[in-house]
Amino acid sequence: MEYYPILKGVHMLTAYLTAGLMLLRLGLDLAGKTGWRKTPLRWIPHLNDTILLAAALVLVVVTAWMPLVHHWLTAKIILLLGYIVAGKWALDLKRSGAVRGVAALVALFQLLLIFLLAVTKPGF
Ligand code: HEM
Repeated sequence: MEYYPILKGVHMLTAYLTAGLMLLRLGLDLAGKTGWRKTPLRWIPHLNDTILLAAALVLVVVTAWMPLVHHWLTAKIILLLGYIVAGKWALDLKRSGAVRGVAALVALFQLLLIFLLAVTKPGF
């Protein structure tokens, strides 16, 4: 499995890029610079997230880690679904500033938990 370190590296790199790209978009919105939606920043996060999840799926196949068996991984997937919904709301200009602000905090908190679970892999 000599490609495993590369696969894990891709998963980790795209994971950190996901966090960076979310913070960047939230920061631009907060500064009133909502025009990023007309730039490549509109689709780059989707491309990055597709690679992140593809690498995650291959990791599950090639490692012994399994959702529903290792609960840190199950929790990570549930948090990921919550992060996707909260992130979508946080970046939705049709929602009020208050709703977007709360959604942004919820999204970032879930992302933090995903990272903590990934790094510590607690045995619950
Ligand atoms: C936003 C979503 C995600 C983020 C930010 C993320 C982040 C990370 C990070 C940083 C690591 C490396 C931890 C370390 O060992 O230092 C990792 C490992 C891992 N991730 Fe993810 N991940 C995400 C989604 C997923 C999903 C959806 C799955 C499974 C379907 C998954 C499966 C795995 C597995 C199996 C490992 C362990 C690899 C190993 O140590 O051999 N990840 N993740």
